[in-house]
Amino acid sequence: MAAKKKVVFLTGAGMSAESGISTFRDAGGLWEQYPVMQVASHTGWLQDPDLVTRFYNERRRQLFNTQPCGGHKLVAAMEQDYDVVVITQNVDDLHERAGSTRVIHLHGELCKVCSSRDVENPRYWQTLGPDNCEVTPGTKAADGSLLRPYIVFFEEAVPMIAPAAEQVGKADILVIIGTSLNVYPAAGLINYTQSGTPIYLIDPKDVSVPYGLSVTHIKAGATEGMKQLMEILNKS
Ligand code: OAD
Repeated sequence: MAAKKKVVFLTGAGMSAESGISTFRDAGGLWEQYPVMQVASHTGWLQDPDLVTRFYNERRRQLFNTQPCGGHKLVAAMEQDYDVVVITQNVDDLHERAGSTRVIHLHGELCKVCSSRDVENPRYWQTLGPDNCEVTPGTKAADGSLLRPYIVFFEEAVPMIAPAAEQVGKADILVIIGTSLNVYPAAGLINYTQSGTPIYLIDPKDVSVPYGLSVTHIKAGATEGMKQLMEILNKS
């Protein structure tokens, strides 16, 4: 039996838009409602950790009232026929809840909190669920430092970028869904595809991609776009 083709997905906020989670940069998006550098940067965390803690408490409350959309489910269903890896900029767990088994979170995970002194040390990670989704501002991690959201803040390194780039480099097909490709290094992952690898982009709006790359734009939302993609792949 031939080996399954490797499909790598790179997803962003638009992937979860049909689940009811706001994107960041669309009209009415999160960064119009909140000052991004106060709630999502390293400096913002140092200046006002209580504000940041409350902001992510609110995001977590919303997440636990949210379900995966059709698009998440179709991405998960692709595992039947393909070797699938999902690289997501999203901090929600909707890919996992839809059934995807290999998910790389570039920007952290909303359901986790960690030590603010030793962010990547799993010893201090805690997983929060619907019944304990709020952190009281000022709560300490087991090492005595403030408990912080396990989020990669602006101004911080992205620890999972190297494994993500390695996966993109091995992809037979790259599918980008619902990201404006504004935030680096995630946006640069597209450059790690091998020459000639088909790249599909699912987004209702135009998204600019690096010059010279040939990208098939499926101009639709995540669910409809995934249906169209699966038809295209079935025919090829
Ligand atoms: P953006 O808000 O920048 O882009 C969302 C993209 O989703 C846009 O291109 C929209 O056109 C598209 N979109 C909207 N509705 C859609 C739908 N139903 N189906 C498919 N696509 C849809 O979000 P990201 O590119 O994910 O980082 O933002 C990247 C990072 O910036 C985030 O991970 C976050 C943010 O600041 C951190 O907070 C660290």
